[in-house]
Amino acid sequence: MSFPVAARAKVNLFLHVGDKRADGFHPLQSLAVFPEAGDTLTAEVADALSLDVNGPFSAALAGDGDNLVLRAARALAARGAKLTLTKNLPVASGIGGGSADAAACLRALNDLWRLGHDESALCAVAAELGSDIPVCVASQPRWMEGRGEVLSPVVSLPPLPMLLVNPGVAVPTRDVFSALQMRSGVEMRLPRGRFRDMADLLRFLDASRNDLEMPARLIQPVIGEVLTALSALPGALFSRMSGSGATCFALFPDDECCQRAAKLLGEGKRGWWIAPTRVPAYNIEQESPGRDIAPP
Ligand code: C5P
Repeated sequence: MSFPVAARAKVNLFLHVGDKRADGFHPLQSLAVFPEAGDTLTAEVADALSLDVNGPFSAALAGDGDNLVLRAARALAARGAKLTLTKNLPVASGIGGGSADAAACLRALNDLWRLGHDESALCAVAAELGSDIPVCVASQPRWMEGRGEVLSPVVSLPPLPMLLVNPGVAVPTRDVFSALQMRSGVEMRLPRGRFRDMADLLRFLDASRNDLEMPARLIQPVIGEVLTALSALPGALFSRMSGSGATCFALFPDDECCQRAAKLLGEGKRGWWIAPTRVPAYNIEQESPGRDIAPP
């Protein structure tokens, strides 16, 4: 029996960076959330390990013989499986698409191969593969620290109607970190994260930044255009770039408002990827193990 596992996009609501460490990575502080938009991955029993990619952004991965998904599978065990990835998210776009796919692969194969690893064991494998992959294993709101792999729980978040927009440019994470100058540092005392409503969350976000936004805009100035367009949309409460870009997000008071804004933006900007979605309401007491089955 195989079933699609959701590989949800990862959105950094804020991202503060500190000075480069001796190992070449930067320490960071972030709040990652997972909207419903995402890729899907299916794992089926097979003798050999294989990966088929389909979906609107599959072409961007053509010729990538050593996809992160295959590396994740091999890191888990030397066994076979037929993997199928439906690539709905733009590649190298700051919303952790590749990381979410690798994390979904770890979860799916853990089940298919009946390995019985718990989340922290999967996160340990994930951390070897990339800084953003452990948080994508959890695929639920988390504070991120360390180089991204040190995770702590958020208590509650309201539902977040969210518009994701990518201007169609790939921005390599490494290049953005290399161009980084201004850093907020990582000394903030992280709150417990009991965000009761949108206003509560916005108070926190207004006092934070994405340190990678400025260097990413230097590399791809079109990111500035996206942010200007997002903040001008009727009902937009807040807009910012996610991760190392170029995808930006805006938050809206309700889903209808978010859908209307997506339509309006789509009329003016051709060629931009525009995805209205939502981060479901979250409460740590209701975190459920059945969460990663993709909707049909
Ligand atoms: O861990 P990952 O492979 O996603 O990182 C890609 C690149 O981004 C790293 O090689 C490094 O240059 C940069 N990076 C960083 N600090 C982090 C995460 C990534 O400098 N915390």
